[in-house]
Amino acid sequence: MSRDRSRPGPAHPGPARPGPAPARSDAGPARDHDGSRIPGFYRLSVAERRRALGKHSGLGADDLETLESGGMDTATADHVIENAVGVYALPLGVGLNFRINGRDVLVPMAVEEPSVIAAASNAARIVREGGGFEAEADEPIMTAQIEVTGASDPRASKTRIEAAAAELLRLAQATLPRLAERGGGPRALEVRVRSGRVVVHVHIDCRDAMGANMVNTVAEALAEKVARLAGGRSGLRILTNLCDRRCVRVRARVPARNLSTGALDGGAVRDAIVAASRFAEDDPYRAATHNKGIMNGVDAVVIATGNDWRGVEAGAHAFAAASGRYRPLSTWAVEKGDLVGKLEMPMAVGTVGGTLQVHAGARLAQRILGAQSSGDLGMIIGCVGLASNLAALRALATEGIQRGHMTLHRRSEALARARGASGALPERPDRDKRTSP
Ligand code: MEV
Repeated sequence: MSRDRSRPGPAHPGPARPGPAPARSDAGPARDHDGSRIPGFYRLSVAERRRALGKHSGLGADDLETLESGGMDTATADHVIENAVGVYALPLGVGLNFRINGRDVLVPMAVEEPSVIAAASNAARIVREGGGFEAEADEPIMTAQIEVTGASDPRASKTRIEAAAAELLRLAQATLPRLAERGGGPRALEVRVRSGRVVVHVHIDCRDAMGANMVNTVAEALAEKVARLAGGRSGLRILTNLCDRRCVRVRARVPARNLSTGALDGGAVRDAIVAASRFAEDDPYRAATHNKGIMNGVDAVVIATGNDWRGVEAGAHAFAAASGRYRPLSTWAVEKGDLVGKLEMPMAVGTVGGTLQVHAGARLAQRILGAQSSGDLGMIIGCVGLASNLAALRALATEGIQRGHMTLHRRSEALARARGASGALPERPDRDKRTSP
């Protein structure tokens, strides 16, 4: 599944993309028992769900207490941001049924939109019945951009900087000694000329960190020397969020029979999903909504695990548009009668550092996931994105999303009304009626 780096953007113009390349990471998510399948989870009370979660993820009651507070208090918030006046809550749920590279994983998801978690869990169950998700992650390479303006001959500047690449990489390495100890560090340097600017990219293996701080440190440390070599003025020095060397690729194969609904047989649903995928490939207006459905799942895990969702969003949409036309991040096609979905997107997430140092809820979510590396976490997130996309397309291609959505919406309205009147929470009459995820 490797791509031609000179042509960024979704690398799947048609349905015939090859399957996972041999270079794929074998590490995979940590859990390898049947632990992501918890039938009837939705029927349980919140306390019972916590107990089930503890049992399946090996966490004790003390660990799970964090779930009550959300993981950050106002005093901590006051150290994290400016002008703090409190903390802002989001519902946290668990995506079920995910099997990724043969291993099971329970997925914490922070999201306020009803039906996202149930839909992703349902789709994960369907994919699981076909063998589960296959995923691979690139090495965790982030890129520093150093801009130089005012060079009289940018082509000659490029040649001089390229000749000094080894020295510049050594300098970059010296600014990040601890990263080198962990097996990461600067890997390559590239010089681009854009509208009279010289733009130097330093590609840095950030290991399990998202890496923004390290990358920005390198950009600032090298900027003056790069500007001197170029014979120009140092301009911006910052990472790019279009981290197209740090992509995840995810694949799901679903036997058509598993897609049937009450009204339609599986083959008809499969073909309708493929037609919906073509629509997104043909029309950027549809592609934007298609990708929003993917980001429903992606963002929920990115947020729950304390990662920078603005960065992931920026990377996703820049990648989607990088070919010059905005494209879907996933496509669906028929292979040997089965429905096969493929997703590729940048994934700048970490399992260490950043928000994790200050957010107990994010730390807990990471423990529940049990990802062994930033690549593992990225693969899980990509799978949740593809599951969300499958669920949306299956609903849109059959009965539409409004019936299920409005049922859940009415529940939220009832909650608001009941709270407005008495301040108390109403019963959950739907608990026994919803389709089990
Ligand atoms: C709604 O949150 C997401 C969908 O619009 C995605 C899609 O249309 O594919 C249902």
